[in-house]
Amino acid sequence: MKAQIRTDIKAKLSDMTESEWEKKSRSMRETLFSLKEWKQARVIAVTISTRLEIPTRPIIEQAWKEKKQVCIPKCFPQTGAMEFRTFSAYDQLETVYAGLSEPIESLTEKAAQNDIDLVIVPGVAFDREGFRIGYGGGYYDRYLSGYKGRTVSLLFDCQLTDRIPRMPHDIPVDMIVTESETIA
Ligand SMILES: Nc1ncnc2c1ncn2[C@@H]1O[C@H](COP(=O)(O)OP(=O)(O)OP(=O)(O)O)[C@@H](O)[C@H]1O
Ligand SMILES: [Mg+2]
Repeated sequence: MKAQIRTDIKAKLSDMTESEWEKKSRSMRETLFSLKEWKQARVIAVTISTRLEIPTRPIIEQAWKEKKQVCIPKCFPQTGAMEFRTFSAYDQLETVYAGLSEPIESLTEKAAQNDIDLVIVPGVAFDREGFRIGYGGGYYDRYLSGYKGRTVSLLFDCQLTDRIPRMPHDIPVDMIVTESETIA
C-alpha cells in the first residue's frame, strides 16, 4: 500500500516540467521564509536534496544569509539511526551510498536534538493531517520520536493524498506548505 503510493506519486513528480518544478518550489520557499517558525528558528535541519526532491540548496543559502545554523542528516544504515550535523560550507560534503551527499564527520559537529528549532521533513506523500510516507528508511520517524521542536514539510499539491495508511511509529509533521496552501 505504502509502496504503491510511493510509486504513483513519484510518477506524477517525474511528469512535471522543469519550469513548473522551479516556479512551484520557489513559491513554497517564499511561504516557508514568511512563517514565524522559520523566522524564529536559529537552528534548522534540512536534507541535501537529490533528483525528484524539492531543491534545498536555496533554502540552505537563505538560512545562511539570515545567520541561521544549518544542520544536515547523516544516516547509519546498520542501525537505522540518523543524526544531524552542522553544515556551513559545501566542501563539508561527501558522496555516500546511492549518490546521497552527507556531512564529513571530521569537518562537522553533531547537533543535539534539543538545539534544533525546526526540522524540514522530506517525504513522498502526505495527508492533510501531516502523516507522511517517506523514502522507506524510517530514519525520520525514529529521529522525530525523540524530538520536541517544530516540523514542516514542503511538497507539491500532487503529493497530497486523501489518507496515508498509519503505523504506530509514524510521526506527523506540524505544518505542510505546498505551492498553493499552508496547512497547520
Ligand atoms: N521509532 C521507530 N523505531 C523502530 N523502528 C522504526 C521506527 N520508526 C520506523 N521504524 C521502522 O522503519 C521502517 C520504515 O518505516 P516507514 O515505512 O514508516 O518509513 P518512512 O516513513 O517512509 O521513512 P522516513 O521516516 O525515513 O521518511 C519500518 O520497518 C519501521 O518499522
Ligand atoms: Mg513512516
